[in-house]
Amino acid sequence: MVVSFDRVAEIYDETRGFPVFVMEKIVETLMDELEGYVNILDVGVGTARFSKPLQNRGYYVVGIDVSLKMLRKAFERGMHIRITM
Ligand SMILES: C[S@@+](CC[C@H](N)C(=O)[O-])C[C@H]1O[C@@H](n2cnc3c(N)ncnc32)[C@H](O)[C@@H]1O
Repeated sequence: MVVSFDRVAEIYDETRGFPVFVMEKIVETLMDELEGYVNILDVGVGTARFSKPLQNRGYYVVGIDVSLKMLRKAFERGMHIRITM
């Protein structure tokens, strides 16, 4: 199943944002769940709002997404992007 988020890419982050302390808690919880792992495959990475903080904490993250517009936002957040057709 493919559900591209191209149409909402421009407003995605601002409509799904969390306060900083909530985001910190989510990332901490993800890290607890990921204990013992260093490699992450984020299918449907979107704007990388979770993958980028995990990458910043030392995880090796590969994200894939069908939406180029979401990936552009991920790029703007500092993720490296490679486009493959
Ligand atoms: C609800 S968003 C979640 C984005 C991100 N994981 C987050 O939590 O903010 C779902 C993402 O999955 C992508 N997607 C949907 N179907 C997909 C598929 N079959 N393969 C890869 N990405 C897909 C969409 O383009 C969108 O960016």
